[in-house]
Amino acid sequence: MIVNKEDALYFSVVDYIIKDKTFRKTANFQHHGTTRLRHSMRVSYLSYKIAKKLGLNQKVAAISGLLHDFYLQDESKGFSNFMKFQKLHPKIAAANAIKHFKVSDKEKEIIETHMWPFTKPSKSLEGWIVSLTDKTVGAYEYSIKFRKALSYRLKKKQSQI
Ligand SMILES: [Fe+2]
Ligand SMILES: [Fe+2]
Repeated sequence: MIVNKEDALYFSVVDYIIKDKTFRKTANFQHHGTTRLRHSMRVSYLSYKIAKKLGLNQKVAAISGLLHDFYLQDESKGFSNFMKFQKLHPKIAAANAIKHFKVSDKEKEIIETHMWPFTKPSKSLEGWIVSLTDKTVGAYEYSIKFRKALSYRLKKKQSQI
């Protein structure tokens, strides 16, 4: 990520979260083929930029985007099934965000609703930005993961010819 003057403003908003020891543990968990920390930072940064462009509350977008997946469980081990995971992890992330960073009611609601349509839709435009950015970033991360897997298989096949 390139840090220019505008990016420096973004980091001044989220600095206290990024430096937090507990939050940094999200770097230890795989998420869409990357780490949960990296995924969360992508969602946060893009949400911040979009909210700013639209004249919305970019601080709320940045913070709730960064904390939307703030849970410290392995997806495969911590949750017994797909549907349970989709509905439960936003609640865990919101509870962690309140406990560690005392997020506002609006930020809490955005985190709780980011998994729409598995959850209720957000009441705020910033919430829609975070939810849609999460899906876009997730699709991007999955595409990289599958491209890597595909090129590995192709290389393996070529070496057998
Ligand atoms: Fe999520
Ligand atoms: Fe996410």
